[in-house]
Amino acid sequence: MSTTQFGKSGWTPDRIENLNGKTFVITGTTSGTGFEAARILLSKGAKVVMLNRNPQKADEIVATLKKDLGSNIDVLSVIMDLGEQASVKRAAAEVLEKVSRIDALMCNAAIAQVPTRKLTVDGFESQLGVNHYGHFTLQGLLFPLIEKSHGRIVTVGSMGYDMGLKTIKFDDMNWDNDYTPNDAYSQSKLAQIMSVYELQDRLKAAGKTGVKVYACHPGSSRTSLISTSGSLMMRIIFGLMKLSPLTQPAENGAYPELMCATEDNLDQILFYGPTGRNNWVGPVGAHHLEPHAKDKAVAERLWAVSEQATGINWEL
Ligand SMILES: NC(=O)c1ccc[n+]([C@@H]2O[C@H](COP(=O)([O-])OP(=O)(O)OC[C@H]3O[C@@H](n4cnc5c(N)ncnc54)[C@H](OP(=O)(O)O)[C@@H]3O)[C@@H](O)[C@H]2O)c1
Repeated sequence: MSTTQFGKSGWTPDRIENLNGKTFVITGTTSGTGFEAARILLSKGAKVVMLNRNPQKADEIVATLKKDLGSNIDVLSVIMDLGEQASVKRAAAEVLEKVSRIDALMCNAAIAQVPTRKLTVDGFESQLGVNHYGHFTLQGLLFPLIEKSHGRIVTVGSMGYDMGLKTIKFDDMNWDNDYTPNDAYSQSKLAQIMSVYELQDRLKAAGKTGVKVYACHPGSSRTSLISTSGSLMMRIIFGLMKLSPLTQPAENGAYPELMCATEDNLDQILFYGPTGRNNWVGPVGAHHLEPHAKDKAVAERLWAVSEQATGINWEL
């Protein structure tokens, strides 16, 4: 597959047909790419389950979407804080109780560039805890229904996987030493991406070919990411970047995850995102992934560490 698989403009939501009868579960829809993805899926007739940590913002988003798309949209809001394993477990149980199928679980939510080292209530470095361990648990608990539905898991990574240490700091997962916001964020996104390809291998080994798992990223998109958790300096830098052609609207940033959630015949072994300059902007398709993201020994060890940290055993 080449970046031209979808033509010069790359993949766009025009390719999505009617999604009546399909259910998509998305984390982090109060802003940015998650909001845009939810809006587009609902506009195509899908049922969307939104998993957000802030009840007030979640209610406001439902109201905004109903105002924009009509009060008959099929949207369900479930409260979940990815930074608290107990909350993720509660939310997963609620989803399993309320929906009968999951066509795609879209692991979109994240925090980034947290200026000083923080720990989640479970004692994990905050970006690792929210971005990786939170989604690891959610995926593990929703997997049986995704499998029953022949659905997909879509992980929203970042080009940050290729920054920082470019491997997993197994001897110091929680950054007791040498914390920097970028290194810790980059590691959390690398961990998420590595887990996609490791899960693919595990599913294949278990003969479970009905579930597809994809890794993608939104490029450099104008969202709330840095203003939510970044330092003042990072907010200024990203504020300036937002004025340049090196960034794109949040809607375009939603396209890779929408593509992975809906497009037929996508090759799982590839990595999806904008194919223009630096992979920050441009037509959406598959593009190069550096080999460290598929280092098998690191991925296997990360999987074992993640199962142990979260207590989630996939039993594939
Ligand atoms: N924007 C970019 O240029 C860029 C670049 C590379 C990768 N990404 C990735 O793209 C994805 C979407 O980010 P975005 O840019 O759209 O950022 P965003 O506008 O800040 O949206 C992030 C979403 O995640 C939610 N969230 C944060 N912490 C959470 C938690 N503990 N539990 C549940 N939800 C939580 C936020 O909710 P609140 O409203 O409650 O904060 C928000 O809905 C992320 O995975 C990010 O790493 C973005």
